[in-house]
Amino acid sequence: MSDTHSTARLRCIEAHCAATYKATERLYTCKHCGGLLDVAYDFRLPAGVAEMRARFRERRMANDAVERSGVWRFRELLPFVDDPAQIVTLAEGNTPLYTAPRSAQYAGLQSLRLKHQGMNPTGSFKDNGMTTGVTQAVRLGATAVACASTGNTSASMAAYAARAGLRALVFIPAGQVAYGKLSQALEYKATVVEIEGNFDDAMRIVREIAEETDIYLLNSINPFRLEGQKAIAIELFEQCDWQAPDWIILPGGNLGNSSAFGKAIDELATLGFIERLPRLAIIQAAGASPFYELFASSDHATFRPQTQPATLATAIRIGNPVSWKKALRAIERTRGVVERVSEQEIADAKAMIGSDGIGCEPASAATLAGIKKLVAAGVIKTTDDVTAVLTGNLLKDPSYTVAYHTGKLAIDREGEPQAITGSFANRPLRVAADKQQIKRLLNT
Ligand code: F0G
Repeated sequence: MSDTHSTARLRCIEAHCAATYKATERLYTCKHCGGLLDVAYDFRLPAGVAEMRARFRERRMANDAVERSGVWRFRELLPFVDDPAQIVTLAEGNTPLYTAPRSAQYAGLQSLRLKHQGMNPTGSFKDNGMTTGVTQAVRLGATAVACASTGNTSASMAAYAARAGLRALVFIPAGQVAYGKLSQALEYKATVVEIEGNFDDAMRIVREIAEETDIYLLNSINPFRLEGQKAIAIELFEQCDWQAPDWIILPGGNLGNSSAFGKAIDELATLGFIERLPRLAIIQAAGASPFYELFASSDHATFRPQTQPATLATAIRIGNPVSWKKALRAIERTRGVVERVSEQEIADAKAMIGSDGIGCEPASAATLAGIKKLVAAGVIKTTDDVTAVLTGNLLKDPSYTVAYHTGKLAIDREGEPQAITGSFANRPLRVAADKQQIKRLLNT
């Protein structure tokens, strides 16, 4: 791996400011105006586009963990590391792109592909961003890292921090994190702080703590996280032989991933890796949809956080997403759209993805529910080339899945449980331990 001196710097995204800082400053927002920061580069690719594409592909066959990683094999497109020995990897990325015929039919599409980020080492797309985020923590000499999380970020950060020998502090909303995720953070030895509040409370508090201490913040407000998450988009294009699909569909919570996709698309188009831009569609749960509200407003100017976000897709139960301005930039750059979907729509879409033999966690299924709605509205055409990103593994939230299939899924509405119908429920069959009875039951 080459270790030429990096041109990376931090740059404020606000056009009127555009202040720049050294990439080794421990900063999350602009010191002048408080704006969000990008990692900016003067890209100097060592070869032309065709040769770079060939190198990316070749590295997938390597035995060396960093060389093969689905993030670091694209390192020329995220060149902020001077010393490769500092890279912390768990063999992230290189996730499958599946066809999903039943899900396609359900949504009214001729075909649909699903990029399954749940097939990552800790079972979510966060690993792509955590390999870069924790590597930056090591570069800065941090000894402790922290995040607020609805679960997946904490699981991923805990694993990568453990690999790097860093202390991990995770702040989660008490009682609102799926057990698959909580169990990971505990097992990877993070200090888990359950806050009596929601994700937005946890986010506010951890940001203040990071400002006042040496603890390095690894939420997606940290621009180095998003550099790794760019690789999800890069790899997706590679799997499509660099022909961008018409649409890429993402679930939206804190809006870091949508921001990373926007940056990747912009850079890849500028560098000539893709010839046309895909359109992004960001899907939110209706009960936690402040970005949808912004998009639906006439001028896209006033962002109004929601104080009581509510959805059983706990991963995206977020009322005040930190990266909304970057996500808006991505939507504007790609002529994208934002949609919102109900709890019932998410639950049924999830079962459909399961029926393709793929499966995912609830937040990920918001994508298919959103596609169905956008196809019905004529925004997405039946013949469009569509890829949705499944952000988390089915096993992250087994309680939700079992509740759906046994007719017990319900969301609390002001103290009253509101049932979700198991439209595609697949109930277990209870029977005596008797072979004849079982054969009759199974019609065999
Ligand atoms: N899907 C899953 C499975 C998630 O865990 C998240 C976010 C999202 C979608 C939304 O992505 O925030 O980039 O818009 N989870 C964060 C966490 C908030 O703490 O694990 P986003």
